[in-house]
Amino acid sequence: MHRRSRIAVLASGGGSNLQVLIDHFAGPAQSMGEIVWVGSDRADAGALTRAQQAGIATGVIDAPRDSEALVATLRAAGADLLVLAGYLKLVPEGVVRAFHGRLLNIHPALLPAFGGPGMYGLRIHTAVLDHGATITGVTVHFVDEQFDRGPIVAQWPVPVLPGDTPALLAARVLRAEHRLFPLCVAAVASGAIVLGDDRRVHGHLDIPVDVAAPAWRFGLEPDTTGDLQAFAQDAARLFPR
Ligand code: GRF
Repeated sequence: MHRRSRIAVLASGGGSNLQVLIDHFAGPAQSMGEIVWVGSDRADAGALTRAQQAGIATGVIDAPRDSEALVATLRAAGADLLVLAGYLKLVPEGVVRAFHGRLLNIHPALLPAFGGPGMYGLRIHTAVLDHGATITGVTVHFVDEQFDRGPIVAQWPVPVLPGDTPALLAARVLRAEHRLFPLCVAAVASGAIVLGDDRRVHGHLDIPVDVAAPAWRFGLEPDTTGDLQAFAQDAARLFPR
């Protein structure tokens, strides 16, 4: 089943994940969805500037706990898919209910480890290092009533290396976030991936297989190729749905 979604994004920070979504839906994923509104709890969030530069309507959320107001704003924008891209406030229950199966979040670790209340930003990567974990990564998941506990759409591994600091690790994970997130949002936007009534994620990314795996796929070096398609091929091979 193919559909085209109207996507709203909430972001509290610089918005680099928002930027890759903007680029993806202005380019290769144009037929799968359109970003119609970007909101932030912070008036000075870089994400709002990025949206404005792309000609996308924006808003500041004055009362992040007021679900009626937020649902009304999202409905007024015509949004039918809500994406959290580094949004630091808890999304109120009424919004979670209104966007059941249509609400996605990205988390810079392999959930259910290193998630939950208080686990955001550098705290996550500090905890990963403190535990001596050797693998971390990215999780994209549907959002439910509990922080970081909803059904998982996709994950991607990133190695922890000797000498890592939280900031170095965050940068490596962020590079993988930028690869995985647009693919997941597009798959849900197009209806290729759905949340079932059984609370399980159904569907798959129908992408041909490629066996090459350059280092940028694991965040080990900055990606200068812009080769999202090659990443998607690996994702489909390693983590099929
Ligand atoms: C990302 O690491 C995201 O996973 C987390 O917050 C960070 C936001 O970064 N939830 P940016 O604003 O997208 O650059």
